[in-house]
Amino acid sequence: MSKKITAAITAVGGYVPEDKLTNFDLEKMVDTNDEWIRTRTGIEERRILKGDGKATSDLAAPAVKELCKKRAIDPAEIDCLIVATVTPDMVFPATANIVCDKIGAKNAWSFDVGAACSGFLYSLTLGSSLIESGRYKKVVVCGADKMSAIVDYSDRATCIIFGDGAGAVLLEPNEEGNGVLDSILRSDGSGCQYLHMKAGGSARPASVETVMAKEHYVYQDGQPVFKFAVKGMADISAELLEKNNLTGNDVAWLVPHQANLRIIDATANRMGLPREKVMININKYGNTTAGTIPLCLWDWEKQLKKGDNLVLAAFGGGFTWGATLIKWAYNS
Ligand code: UT7
Repeated sequence: MSKKITAAITAVGGYVPEDKLTNFDLEKMVDTNDEWIRTRTGIEERRILKGDGKATSDLAAPAVKELCKKRAIDPAEIDCLIVATVTPDMVFPATANIVCDKIGAKNAWSFDVGAACSGFLYSLTLGSSLIESGRYKKVVVCGADKMSAIVDYSDRATCIIFGDGAGAVLLEPNEEGNGVLDSILRSDGSGCQYLHMKAGGSARPASVETVMAKEHYVYQDGQPVFKFAVKGMADISAELLEKNNLTGNDVAWLVPHQANLRIIDATANRMGLPREKVMININKYGNTTAGTIPLCLWDWEKQLKKGDNLVLAAFGGGFTWGATLIKWAYNS
């Protein structure tokens, strides 16, 4: 009998732009201060992609190129490339199509997934299923967002949170039982009212009025999102552990979406995990939406060991949320 195929992450790539926007820079732009931002969110600085015409694909392409280099594969070997994003280069075509063109992934089919901050987890589950089916051998899953394109830098409630960045993983078949082992994903569209972009879609196409009313920016009612996020991320992570007969002791790393340090701490506490087992880089990148989880994997890759259990957890616009269990497949 042939062995069960799982989808293992075999390489990680990442990219953040060089330009930094610090809390002290923001103090000069809006009525805020470094102390408030650090204590309420954990953020100290974020990266911003500057330059005319620079887009989300310019974050994703170098991240994917890096993982190809690490794994010594030609981009033409990629079977499928998925980009999770809420800031596509254009409404259409998909940013994933543009990324494939930029890196020379000429044999891949490619598409975007829009699930906001849970986009990477949604895409990872999807990409893993393609590998598990036995039909595809190399699937790239990328989370990329140029949040600075949709942030109003005169709105202190949102401009302090977001940053730009991208991370990507390569998925390949594994017969040792390593890789993506389980996932619980959820959505609740009634949460739309608390976190959305009002215009630019089919409900309110762009017009002079929508631009004047600043409706092409992120709208967030922070407090309800915070409450739902704390409960959603903590509950689903605990549910995933229980479903797999695991406790916090079995988990080597929690890889949480980086929206707010207080949400991350609540999730870790619920799982019984000390801070040392939690990947946190919100201080230097802020919230890069679909980019946060793969950027954590990118920053921590060298510390990960074959056989480590990782729990990835996210909550975001939609609402969308979820948790994914991974058994790490390699030592760097
Ligand atoms: O990744 C997608 C999902 N998103 C999230 O998970 C984000 C969830 N929400 C949050 O992280 C938090 O709600 C925020 C960080 C957005 C805001 O923190 P908060 O503790 O919920 O603040 P708040 O909105 O309740 O505001 C508290 C006070 C208010 O002043 P008063 O009314 O108490 O006098 C605000 O006006 O802080 C004030 N405030 C600020 N002060 C300085 C709000 N923003 C700022 C600011 N600087 N940037």
